[in-house]
Amino acid sequence: MARKKIALIGSGQIGGTLAHLAGLKELGDIVMFDIADGIPQGKALDIAESSPVDGFDAKLSGTTGYEAIEGADVCIVTAGVPRKPGMSRDDLLGINLKVMQQVGAGIAKYAPNAFVICITNPLDAMVWALQKFSGLPRNKVCGMAGVLDSARFRYFIAEELDVSVEDVTAFVLGGHGDTMVPLTRYSSVGGISLDDVVSMGWMSQEKLDQIVQRTRDGGAEIVGLLKTGSAFYAPAASAIMMAESYLKDKKRVLPCAAALKGEYGLDDMYVGVPTIIGENGVEKVIEIDLDIAEREEFDKSVNSVKGLMEACKGIDASLA
Ligand code: APR
Repeated sequence: MARKKIALIGSGQIGGTLAHLAGLKELGDIVMFDIADGIPQGKALDIAESSPVDGFDAKLSGTTGYEAIEGADVCIVTAGVPRKPGMSRDDLLGINLKVMQQVGAGIAKYAPNAFVICITNPLDAMVWALQKFSGLPRNKVCGMAGVLDSARFRYFIAEELDVSVEDVTAFVLGGHGDTMVPLTRYSSVGGISLDDVVSMGWMSQEKLDQIVQRTRDGGAEIVGLLKTGSAFYAPAASAIMMAESYLKDKKRVLPCAAALKGEYGLDDMYVGVPTIIGENGVEKVIEIDLDIAEREEFDKSVNSVKGLMEACKGIDASLA
């Protein structure tokens, strides 16, 4: 059986880590794409040269031409620019929207059957625009945010309780940003919901509230430490989990930015919800019950995503 092909559109910090992880996990052959000539070629060769040491078989190549992604089974998109000091939200939106337009055209032409995972920020608006620009089916285009946000939440809980990260599950819904909604009721330690963890006296409500806030600020915390960039190890690991679930038809239940068609009373937008990812891409959006307070927080998050979408429509009329 031929190896699967994974195209990484954007070969910066996250792109490089994606290539390394995809190689180590033998998910398939890897094509790294970027507009910065030399970067994708250099990183691909460097990782390929590590393969005899780590013992994995994968062909790695770097390119500045979209034709090299032809027939890719998975495309993971990190192309774009980060927000720099002095840049307004709309400046950033304008630049990254143009990038999504180019990437969408490249994928539509050379990899129309791929499962596409977008990571570029602002995530929910960018994945929505990428789906429109590419014209790929909505179930084949999704955004990575929920796995990362949930992983941060899980890590903080495990660290606080001094238990294995493997035994902590968590769900974070909504847009990727400071309005995200970590759902304590649907998060658990060894099957015990976090609300029960508090009522048992294992953790104080105050501590849990602090962890929820730290999760919301998780991206900013890393930027504050790194100063010259944003998180890349955990975002890459999260997208690889989604790609693996698709390639191996694992049907994992993962939160991701998915296209909604009436679920949660929303239409024609992307926002973070629980999904099942298998061989057909996003195979199902799971509609969980939200209580009044959770729904209010979710609605607030949805409104902030809608605000970004409106701004995108103002910049590019073809999205309206
Ligand atoms: N086509 C292809 N690649 C592009 C384009 C384009 N039009 N424009 C920029 N790039 C490339 C850059 O050359 C760079 O190598 O995208 C890469 C982005 O890499 P980094 O700046 O290192 O950013 P990274 O940390 O990988 O994050 C990528 O994910 O989490 C989000 O906010 C983050 O939007 C950012 C994205």
